[in-house]
Amino acid sequence: MKKISLILVALFFAATMFVACGGGETTDNHDTDTEETTTDETTTEDVVAIDGKAIYEGNCVACHGADGKGVATFPSLVDGDKKEDIISITTNGNPEKGMTAYKDVLSAGEISAVTDYILGL
Ligand code: HEC
Repeated sequence: MKKISLILVALFFAATMFVACGGGETTDNHDTDTEETTTDETTTEDVVAIDGKAIYEGNCVACHGADGKGVATFPSLVDGDKKEDIISITTNGNPEKGMTAYKDVLSAGEISAVTDYILGL
């Protein structure tokens, strides 16, 4: 009797494991919309296909304009800014002047991708 219940417990365990591994959440809702880009959730998929344009349009366009030339008093990003400067300013910002530090918003890969997009404007 004891042995049988042990076997039953083992079977139950095996079945549970099977369901737990097989079922699971497979629906990773990949919304390419704006601000759901977070720093620590960079999946392999994101690394493969980071869309610099989408990041720019979601985070930067309001101030720097679709053409990167800047809206109103916001500065142009296409007047000879160097790649390392764009990355550095985007990462660390200049909060006193109204430029967000994007290191808490975008991953390094995303900042790099948006920089490449800006350089191509
Ligand atoms: C709320 C408005 C705003 C948004 C949104 C914004 N910026 Fe800025 N950005 C500024 C302001 C203001 C400055 C000027 C800061 C200064 O005077 O040092 C600036 C400066 C910069 C500069 C330096 C340009 C230069 O020639 O001085 C870069 C590069 C830059 N931003 C990149 C970005 C990127 C990339 C994004 C999107 C991820 C972004 N910014 C989003 C307001 C914004």
